[in-house]
Amino acid sequence: MARILQFNIFRYNPNDPDSKPHLQSFYLDETPNLNLFIALNRIREEQDPSLMFDFCCRAAICGACAMVINGKPGLACKTKTKDLPEQINLLPLPGFKLVGDLSVDTGTWFRAMNERIEAWVHSTKEFDPSAEEERMDNALAEQIYELDRCIECGCCIAACATAQMRPDFLGAVALNRIARFILDPRDERTDKDYFEIVGSDQGIFGCMGLLACEDVCPKNIPLQDQLGYLRRKMGIAAVKNYLSWRKKK
Ligand code: SF4
Ligand code: SF4
Ligand code: FES
Repeated sequence: MARILQFNIFRYNPNDPDSKPHLQSFYLDETPNLNLFIALNRIREEQDPSLMFDFCCRAAICGACAMVINGKPGLACKTKTKDLPEQINLLPLPGFKLVGDLSVDTGTWFRAMNERIEAWVHSTKEFDPSAEEERMDNALAEQIYELDRCIECGCCIAACATAQMRPDFLGAVALNRIARFILDPRDERTDKDYFEIVGSDQGIFGCMGLLACEDVCPKNIPLQDQLGYLRRKMGIAAVKNYLSWRKKK
């Protein structure tokens, strides 16, 4: 027999002075292959047109539909109700500005993070539009691509205790991105330059290493490996910085 699902959804409109944060329950009959994307759209179409949530691709590639699903950050479009109990609690991602209900503004956070770590290839080579594309070893290109698969959903930030306590913490997504630029031979930044960006408690040394970020990443990005790699690399850079400072004294 089909289940009747109870959705307890966070409701709050920060732009409405009369709005108070609360959970509102909605009921839906479960249909085969129902996912949270379809369920939320059905609720909005059939029961409450004011419900706010974000979707774009419906295929786990845009990152817009991330929310806290029964206590764990995840993508709504990738989550089937058959994998959840009858009671489904949906909250907006913490750590980002609330737009309303389940909708958060991840864009402002990600833009600031990308600017802060200067997430682009730093090269002194002059751009030549007629030049051929630079060749890269296949294995290396694949290694970089593996880290580039991040869809900026924000799940790793929402799951990270450090990021929740410390808004200045860069988070696994930024540290993974730096690891990607370190791999890229076109980027001319040195270890010292990278140390300036992530060699502090706002970066790799603020990470507690409990790996909630990797547990929730919907793209299965190997965040654990990158955090370990950066910790070792920045640890060595810290020792080198210290020794050269001692030498100058
Ligand atoms: S391992 Fe580090 S980045 Fe990942 S959730 Fe824990 S503190 Fe955050
Ligand atoms: S690293 Fe994973 S969880 Fe974090 S923003 Fe990228 S895709 Fe989302
Ligand atoms: S709608 Fe794009 S990731 Fe879910």
